[in-house]
Amino acid sequence: MGRYVERFSAFDRVVHWTLAVAFLVLVISGLGLFAHTFFGYFSFFGGPEQGILAHKIAGVVFLIASLLLFFAHAKDSCSFDSDDAKWFAAFGGYLSKNEKEIPQGKFNAGQKLFALFSFVAALVLGVTGFIIWDPTAMARGMTQFSLMLHGLFFILIMMGAVVHIYLATIGNPGTVDGMLWGQVKKVWAKKHASKWFKEVAGED
Ligand code: HEM
Repeated sequence: MGRYVERFSAFDRVVHWTLAVAFLVLVISGLGLFAHTFFGYFSFFGGPEQGILAHKIAGVVFLIASLLLFFAHAKDSCSFDSDDAKWFAAFGGYLSKNEKEIPQGKFNAGQKLFALFSFVAALVLGVTGFIIWDPTAMARGMTQFSLMLHGLFFILIMMGAVVHIYLATIGNPGTVDGMLWGQVKKVWAKKHASKWFKEVAGED
């Protein structure tokens, strides 16, 4: 009996990190498009034309990776139960000094919400991104509405990603191990995902 339990397959990890790198490229190149202040960011890509091309390529990669990640975990991210309601009521315990963990499945209720939100956001960003791909191709009103939605969902997903990255690293030590090496410590699994741990390891 080892100290570790399998959490993510190689496929899960390759898809997740492809998504994360594409996201980073999208943010840097997208900021150049978003506001004049960030125009200088295009120099990372060799100029505005190359920056826009990088944004389009990373956008396609991000959309495909988001779909793959979501469907790979849909069984665990889309099933809510009464423990999730308790988790929401206690706000995951993040605002209290009481260490008592609420039993959770593979993902806690907040992670499930983030998985659903980032899936919807990737779809909205993807569809609006294709509409504004060539700003002269579609009707003016449609392009303007898509630009507004694209900007709005960029801000929302950015806020979600900041919280996600913090909670997956500094906020909950040991969590990132699963996405890096595929395994997490059993003590981590018992603390953060006790129902899932019982299911996969057959231990309490
Ligand atoms: C440096 C950047 C990132 C780090 C360190 C990171 C870390 C992680 C870790 C450790 C997990 C597994 C959590 C667990 O075992 O319970 C995870 C899952 C996940 N990540 Fe990331 N991530 C990053 C960027 C992103 C970005 C940019 C997105 C999407 C916009 C994203 C979307 C997801 C999703 C959908 C999951 C599945 C579970 C969930 O909903 O939390 N990640 N990430």
